[in-house]
Amino acid sequence: MALTMDLAVDVLRAVGEPTRLRILALLAHEELAVLELGRVLDQSQPRVSRHLKLLAEAGLVERFPDGAWVFYRLVASGEARELVAETLNRIDPADPVLSADVERLQRVRAERASEAGEYFARNAARWDEIRSLYVSEANVENAILRAAGDGPFRRLVDLGSGTGRMLTLLGPRAEVALGLDLSQQMLNIARAHVADVGLERCELRHGDIFGTRLPGASADLVVVHQVLHYLGDPAAAVKEASRLVEQGGRLLIVDFAPHKLEFLREQHQHRRLGFADAEIERWLKEAGLTKVRSHALPPARREGLTVKIWTAERSRQTQRSAA
Ligand SMILES: C[S@@+](CC[C@H](N)C(=O)[O-])C[C@H]1O[C@@H](n2cnc3c(N)ncnc32)[C@H](O)[C@@H]1O
Repeated sequence: MALTMDLAVDVLRAVGEPTRLRILALLAHEELAVLELGRVLDQSQPRVSRHLKLLAEAGLVERFPDGAWVFYRLVASGEARELVAETLNRIDPADPVLSADVERLQRVRAERASEAGEYFARNAARWDEIRSLYVSEANVENAILRAAGDGPFRRLVDLGSGTGRMLTLLGPRAEVALGLDLSQQMLNIARAHVADVGLERCELRHGDIFGTRLPGASADLVVVHQVLHYLGDPAAAVKEASRLVEQGGRLLIVDFAPHKLEFLREQHQHRRLGFADAEIERWLKEAGLTKVRSHALPPARREGLTVKIWTAERSRQTQRSAA
């Protein structure tokens, strides 16, 4: 629906200020926390928050609190969003202010990635122990087996495979399996684990969930287990994981429900404190998957974490709908 005159004026007013335009250009790359925007823009948090409030009031950005942090992202769709996209598209990409922002954003991202990489390298050998600190493994694994289905699967892809737990759990139901991870230390441990259980047709590959370089529609089971909460752009990771799912295939995302355990951010490199159903469902649907379901596994202790399993499928196209 077209914008009313009043709304158009509100949107253009909100966009028509240098810092706010810079914020919109940054959020076009990925969702960002106020703290991170402040660092990139070199402005105080209260100042950045004031601009964000105006952008939110004009319906251009969405605010979502996550524990003690607050994240912002561009609204997913609509006329206002299109107007912003059109404006950003028309700005010279070599503009010195915007390119300096992108450079600083890349530095913030690189720091984030290197802190997370160091954490995984440091903890690779202890990963199985750390993982079981905050969730009851056996219950979760049984639920994952049920959610995946009996198989047999033609090709299993595990993104952010870590020490290979999902591969050893689900691999026996798959003809071939592939684990992909950014950490060489994690991959080395996974290699030993898959060998221990005698998984022969299982490849472990160094790679990034944001650009797996794997062919599209090439797997009938794709798993992203306890990875999303570390990522700067979980929506992009869901999109890439979904791209790999072939017709009739299934994607399994396992992560936490929204929680308040801030120490996981401080001590264990979590970026997001869980995910709401609506958020994951939206990403899955935007990626073209259907039959989205979620299953919650509440913690044994009151202060523990609820594990969520989201499943979605790529529906088979009938001849008529494919035509
Ligand atoms: C918490 S571990 C989970 C590992 C495994 N899925 C499990 O549940 O045991 C998260 C893993 O994601 C990997 N990871 C983080 N960012 C990644 C990225 N951008 N691409 C691929 N793997 C990534 C880390 O190296 C780490 O091994």
